[in-house]
Amino acid sequence: MAVALIVAAGRGERLGSAMPKALVPVAGRPMLEWSVAALREVAAVTQIVVALPEGLLDAAPAGVVAVCGGPTRSESVRAALRAAAAADEIVVVHDAARALVTPALFSEAITELERSGVDAVVAAAPVTDTIKQVRESPAMRVSATLDRSRLWAVQTPQVFRRAALERALAAPAQLLAAATDDAWLVEQAGGSVALFAASAENFKITTGLDLQLAELLLGRRERG
Ligand code: C5P
Repeated sequence: MAVALIVAAGRGERLGSAMPKALVPVAGRPMLEWSVAALREVAAVTQIVVALPEGLLDAAPAGVVAVCGGPTRSESVRAALRAAAAADEIVVVHDAARALVTPALFSEAITELERSGVDAVVAAAPVTDTIKQVRESPAMRVSATLDRSRLWAVQTPQVFRRAALERALAAPAQLLAAATDDAWLVEQAGGSVALFAASAENFKITTGLDLQLAELLLGRRERG
């Protein structure tokens, strides 16, 4: 059985909205509620904990545990994990900003972790663009072109064995602040991480363009 943590405490500055990103309406409901609705369809998930911005815990949907998020994403995950019932051995971490996630993707992630011997499994989509690395100085001077066939853009859900995630989140504040995903912290702690293929439709709503696209796709799902 698994506990699910949704991190929803970011400000979402790149979206340019006055309200926190997770509460911005998308296709008729606050962004966060799409992920909560998907998780509620997953039989293996016994509890949902949501990290929200301070002062906005009332915005949590009924039936979920709400906690105050931290100043960084990893600290929000840590706060949510502390509030999660200790009985569940598997922890699902998901960004509220990935509102297009499906119940099937959560289930697949949990099954993948159970099947594999690794500490964490991560949903990811193959990179379609060619990725070039640049130097800091002179700025924008290309230093390498990476082998696209081995590059994957990672998403959430990221699913962990609880002990491995707890160990990873015990890292110093500086490392937590540098982390853009939790699997990286597990890697830093010497843990094993595997990817599994997910659809690019599970994109992170970051910009106004993403929001428009999500509105279209979720609106279409809603109409069946
Ligand atoms: O900033 P970014 O888009 O990478 O954030 C990913 C997710 O982490 C979002 O769902 C955001 O709400 C969450 N977050 C958080 N606490 C923070 C920063 C981000 O819960 N301090």
